[in-house]
Amino acid sequence: MPTKNTSIHGEWSSRLAFILAAAGSAVGLGNIWKFPYMAGDNGGGAFVLIYLICIVLLGLPIMMAEVMLGRRGRQSPINTMKTLCEQENTSHAWRLLGWGGVVAGVLILSYYSVIAGWSLSYVLESSSGTFKSITETQAGKLFADLIASPLTLIFWHTLFMVMTIFVVARGVSNGLETAVKYLMPSLAVLILVLIGYSLSQGSFMLGVEFMFTPDFSKINEQVLLDAMGQAFFSLSLGMGAIMIYGSYLSQHASIARTSFAVAFADTSIAILAGLAIFPIVFAYQLEAGQGPGLIFNTLPLAFGQMPGGVFFGTLFFVLLVFAAWTSSISLIEPAVAWLVERRGLTRTKASVVCGVFTWLVGLGTVFSFNIWQSYTLFGKTVFDMLDFLTSNIMLPLGGLFIAIFVGWSMRESSVKDEIAIQNPTLYSLWRVLVRYVTPVAVFIIFLHVIGLI
Ligand code: PFF
Repeated sequence: MPTKNTSIHGEWSSRLAFILAAAGSAVGLGNIWKFPYMAGDNGGGAFVLIYLICIVLLGLPIMMAEVMLGRRGRQSPINTMKTLCEQENTSHAWRLLGWGGVVAGVLILSYYSVIAGWSLSYVLESSSGTFKSITETQAGKLFADLIASPLTLIFWHTLFMVMTIFVVARGVSNGLETAVKYLMPSLAVLILVLIGYSLSQGSFMLGVEFMFTPDFSKINEQVLLDAMGQAFFSLSLGMGAIMIYGSYLSQHASIARTSFAVAFADTSIAILAGLAIFPIVFAYQLEAGQGPGLIFNTLPLAFGQMPGGVFFGTLFFVLLVFAAWTSSISLIEPAVAWLVERRGLTRTKASVVCGVFTWLVGLGTVFSFNIWQSYTLFGKTVFDMLDFLTSNIMLPLGGLFIAIFVGWSMRESSVKDEIAIQNPTLYSLWRVLVRYVTPVAVFIIFLHVIGLI
């Protein structure tokens, strides 16, 4: 049996630290910005139902597999895969999995940072009282003006990238653990405050109905692909982020329990965000399927009306920025760790190199909302393309390969030793999911989308 690998980047101080960091990665713009608009675009209930099924049947098993791979290899995803291929005597082509993850991480962060920039700008708007008694039209104009200005977007995008590089350069666990420990619960409380407001508006049940009454006739390839992509995106799966966090996880922690806790926290926050937002959408007769601007057009109306709105609004957008921040760190970490291991760069240099490159790619997204708005391919702007390619294709493909590697390529003895699920029934269930259910489901959805079935 191969000897255990150790990490040169350090280890989490406890299992809770890992849960917090992984939850920090998972909970982000994906839950609060993206989940509601994806649900809105895809007709609500049917999307939510498929999303939840994807979380349980695909997300959770793959998360366990990904954490397990990280802890077994204890390096950046690229080198983890390289080491495991050697130890398991399998084809070196599996290293591509690590590479795919690095590329996906940089591409996602390039647009993620632009959206986090919108949130930063809304911190300023909220604290300066712009939302007070704002009307639907004014809220719409505020957002439209923001995205119409390349310079403003570049300013906020730059600020967010600098914040990300700053933390990544200092090492992942410094500060991150404490930050997440207080910020995540505060974010949850703030969403509850918003739900409280929504409850008082009389359209709450319309929101609940929209989210939880599935209209099965609405299920088509698009809904399937979007829901699967959103499950991977929201849980940070399929690109090595969770793998690299797993590589810092202590040998004694239970992978199953830890993964469950992270998936549960992530899903709860997304559902709560939906419950906060849709009632407001219906109360003001806004369009649920209006795309990426949804929360920015909706929430100012709520904060503008509620007592203490300036305070709550500012706090909400501050916390949203923090949630995005803890996710962005994990998006760039695989690339940074690889540069440190492979090129011998210091963490600071590696972070700056990756950060500057990602920032440049992000300009494509900035312009896609204004001067390049009319440049489209298959009807998609640069931002739409990046989002579609990463969430709907690269992450599920990464997950598919992780499942095949763990389920079919690794020796079962290694898998069993590392995943260390004590309960035999639970282990068999996980194994069946990873070997059969997950790969087949992802594969079928892909085939469906390209029109082969
Ligand atoms: N899970 C994050 C969110 O929901 O905002 C986004 C993300 C982070 C996706 C890290 C992928 C990733 F590897």
